[in-house]
Amino acid sequence: MSNFIVTVAANTNLRICFPSVYFFWTTFLFRNWIVLSYCCYLIFIKILDMQIVDVYKRIDLEIINGKGCYVCDKSGTQYLDMFGGHAVISVGHTHPHYVSEVNRQLNLLGFYSNSVKISIQEQIADKLGKISDKENYNLFLCNSGAEANENALKLASYQNGRKKVIAFTGSFHGRTSLTAAATNISAIAAPVNETPHVIFYRITT
Ligand SMILES: Cc1ncc(COP(=O)(O)O)c(C=O)c1O
Repeated sequence: MSNFIVTVAANTNLRICFPSVYFFWTTFLFRNWIVLSYCCYLIFIKILDMQIVDVYKRIDLEIINGKGCYVCDKSGTQYLDMFGGHAVISVGHTHPHYVSEVNRQLNLLGFYSNSVKISIQEQIADKLGKISDKENYNLFLCNSGAEANENALKLASYQNGRKKVIAFTGSFHGRTSLTAAATNISAIAAPVNETPHVIFYRITT
């Protein structure tokens, strides 16, 4: 019986590995109980449906496609999208150039480590340097605003050897350790993020 419990526990925690993990363990450990344990698995899967973490309060709306500055929900209702790509990807939706460039790259290579030379990184550094007139700067590429802020704080600290950071109350810098530490919003900064190194100032008008 203990094998049976282990099997079910493993599968409820690793539901995404179904069916390979499930059948591997059940056939391996429990040949005679396959049908019964499979039924139990189905019951567990129903009870313990994995939920998405509500990072934001969700609007009851499911957007399924978009074109230009319009998006459409499941029922075909069209909306003028004024969300602006969360202020980080305000390029509209499914522009043919954007789609073909992302496709072109994915057809070549989706991901590779920074430990090798990646010439498109150099191309973007070159373009950004020219556009911003900062050609003698180094470019650090990362995936999110939080990483950008986290690394900006670390770079400043490496450079000046100091530990103290000044931040404003109510400001938001991201959800990584140091950016959360510099964000005194309890929903963002957990107790473990609290540090005496960050000093908060309140802006008064
Ligand atoms: C001012 C500011 N800083 C940092 C961030 C964090 O960016 P990301 O969600 O990409 O980590 C955001 C994101 O909304 C932001 O608005």
